[in-house]
Amino acid sequence: MQHDTIAVIDFGGQYAHLIATKLRRLGVRSVITDPRDPIAAYDGLRGIILSGSPALASRGEESDYNKQIFDLDIPLLGLCFGHQQIVQHYGGQVEFAQREYGRASLHRVTPSPITEGLADVEQVFMSHGDSVVSVPDGFVEVGYSKLGGAGDEHRFAAVADETRKRYGFQFHPEVDDTVHGDTMLSNFAYKVCGCERSWQMDRFLDEELGRIREQVGDRDVFLLASGGVDSTVCAWMLTRALGPERLHLLHIDNGMMRLEESAQVIAAFREHDVSRHVHFVDASDRFLEAIGDAVEPEKKRLAIGNTFIEVFQDEARKLGLSQLMLAQGTIYPDTIETGGSKRADTIKTHHNRVPIIEEMIQKGQVIEPLAELYKVEVRELGRTLGIPDSFIDRHPFPGPGIGVRVLCADGPPPNQDRAALTAAATPVALKFGFGALPLPVQSVGVKADLRCYESAILLYAAAWDYEQAELAAGEIFKSVPGVNRCVVAIAPTAPHSAEVVITRLTRARLDVNRLADDAVMRGLARHNLMQTVWQCPTVLVPVCIDGNDGELVVLRPVLSERAMTARTARLPKALLDELRDEILAIDGVSALAIDVTSKPPGTIEWE
Ligand code: XMP
Repeated sequence: MQHDTIAVIDFGGQYAHLIATKLRRLGVRSVITDPRDPIAAYDGLRGIILSGSPALASRGEESDYNKQIFDLDIPLLGLCFGHQQIVQHYGGQVEFAQREYGRASLHRVTPSPITEGLADVEQVFMSHGDSVVSVPDGFVEVGYSKLGGAGDEHRFAAVADETRKRYGFQFHPEVDDTVHGDTMLSNFAYKVCGCERSWQMDRFLDEELGRIREQVGDRDVFLLASGGVDSTVCAWMLTRALGPERLHLLHIDNGMMRLEESAQVIAAFREHDVSRHVHFVDASDRFLEAIGDAVEPEKKRLAIGNTFIEVFQDEARKLGLSQLMLAQGTIYPDTIETGGSKRADTIKTHHNRVPIIEEMIQKGQVIEPLAELYKVEVRELGRTLGIPDSFIDRHPFPGPGIGVRVLCADGPPPNQDRAALTAAATPVALKFGFGALPLPVQSVGVKADLRCYESAILLYAAAWDYEQAELAAGEIFKSVPGVNRCVVAIAPTAPHSAEVVITRLTRARLDVNRLADDAVMRGLARHNLMQTVWQCPTVLVPVCIDGNDGELVVLRPVLSERAMTARTARLPKALLDELRDEILAIDGVSALAIDVTSKPPGTIEWE
């Protein structure tokens, strides 16, 4: 069946995907479009939402988009920048006038279907510099706002032209701080656009099973199964549609998996009779050889990505893949490249596009049953399919695996002046009760959307709390140039020196990381934190503290939604104590620290 669909134009703000997922949760299918997409992208859709953007409408930024959307006879709702675009297009005025950031109250002055069911005063979330200062003919003010509920009146916070069905909100209904944002989006979808509620997981599953059977016909299907959430859900879906006899699974151990992960993945597929043809190849030697002496993260990534393709092609030939249909666990965000900057997942992109697959796509031999879904929906689908929670709740895991969590070094970082860093960071750290020891390593960060390699500071104190540690880190990022990461010493608690260990990616070091990571994963499960903590990389850092034999392990627990931003997940003291004892007992480890950096400025992974 056709689902009633609303498009969300991604003008590059951080909110487009959030709007799209909220709509889906409300039962309406949504798709993301690029501002420059041809008008045909909107054929048959019921409405369009124009997202926010970091661009300034008052300066004409981001104005080069397909304006034919305004000629369409379907409702439009603009949010923040989108609101200003609608107003400007029809002749109203936007000026850099009245900045508002944070919670505000919306005071309704004119009734409209878009605000039906709301109170006269509603809490909304604002984040803007530009404001609408006059509305075009045909538009009315639906409501004005007051920052913090008490500030100056900010006009035109919500506007409407009921005849043309054009609406604009200066605030963001998609974020939780807009308390009844769901009602507003739901009003737009159901009352204004007249959508039918049809986006439900059990319904999607039924339709998709039918589609798989139709597309596949009487062929067998082949799937590359990493054990991650996407490929696992894809496998269960295929077996539900076709039965285990017709599904061939291949799992490649690239040597960068977690402790005993490959064995577990294979065993689970067999135990649940997902497929009668589970193939396994241990290619870890080949991957390690390809990485060789590489130290730079991007070189390591490339070696892993290229080797993956080679192994996959070899195995595909051996297994007679060209006779089969190929299934891929591609999910919705993997399929769209829009206005925002999207850092493609190297390995997925690589193996989704190798020549052998391109050829198969041309011949109609590739199916992607999850290509419509977001990660949260893939998980929901997995639960609908009855997949055990232990698979569904897995943390996201990078394609290059722990290969990007075992840092390598051929010397201290060039351009790092540790004496200067100590001098700059110490007084700041002291204000919060910490000592500061710069580490002779650099890690990735994001500053103003750019990835940068900068120094990490080890903070230490006999006793500390997260609040102070995060405040200290925040101050250091603000006032000490060249620092994008702060970690707090768990052991030793009073470090004196930190020296670089010259080392490469070896099986022994990967094993150390695996043991430490295993302790962390078991610890999180024991403390019932697997779902609360979004991801928790364990990083082996080639640094020796106080001349001890062994390297530094850093834990990186984060809270996040879609990995675009992240906050520190505060692990309980009891868990930290247990992890300290367990991890320091691993041969090759002599120090432990916990990362207290938000993203930005530090990425989730260290490289
Ligand atoms: P960062 O480190 O940029 O990561 O904050 C955001 C999310 O992406 C994952 N990640 C990767 N995933 N290949 C992947 O498939 C990669 O090369 C890669 N690097 C980072 C990371 O684990 C986090 O969930």
